[in-house]
Amino acid sequence: MNKKELEKIKEKALKENIPIIMDDTLEVMEKYLITKKPQRILEIGTAVGYSAICFTEFLAEDGMIDTIERDIERVKEAKENIKRVGVEEKIHIYEGDAVEILPTLDEKYDVVFIDAAKGKYPFFLKESMRMLKSDGIIFADNILYKGYVMSDYNKHKQRTAVRNLREYIKEVSENPNLETEILEVGDGLAISKMKFS
Ligand SMILES: C[S@@+](CC[C@H](N)C(=O)[O-])C[C@H]1O[C@@H](n2cnc3c(N)ncnc32)[C@H](O)[C@@H]1O
Repeated sequence: MNKKELEKIKEKALKENIPIIMDDTLEVMEKYLITKKPQRILEIGTAVGYSAICFTEFLAEDGMIDTIERDIERVKEAKENIKRVGVEEKIHIYEGDAVEILPTLDEKYDVVFIDAAKGKYPFFLKESMRMLKSDGIIFADNILYKGYVMSDYNKHKQRTAVRNLREYIKEVSENPNLETEILEVGDGLAISKMKFS
């Protein structure tokens, strides 16, 4: 992979206020990915491809990442970025709304990374669980949403997102098949491991 190009992609995204994974969140995920060496990763929320490109380093040989993005301009830029870095064999982008695309997928994934519309996290969880391998891991970024999720913050614009993020946390915490930890890295990261049955 061309690391210099990757650094340029990151700088451009930050300059243009495109929300990409924070360094400390990525660092935590990398620790899991190094040992897991996933064959298949599903990402919900590609943006310009930054996190997906970073994840390719940890894939097993012949491993693949499927990633979903609904913003056409971002899809275009992500495709260019993926090519520039030289990982186009390893990333497939589904173009469209994950709410419509996820139910059409029927793969098995080692790792799912949820990083899209916060109001849809419970739905993304349900679909991710359906496709998760029996030793799989689900990461959900922005789970603490600037601290709103753990406070009594109730501002109208964010209310639906906060309610759905809380529902996500409740579901992963109460699901007997999952072991979950919530970390205060970046904007909050939920890590849910499937328990061996
Ligand atoms: C936080 S960004 C993703 C950042 C990327 N994972 C990274 O770290 O480089 C979230 C992206 O999800 C996309 N998105 C939000 N809701 C979506 C949905 N329902 N379906 C598909 N994409 C969605 C947005 O357009 C945005 O580009």
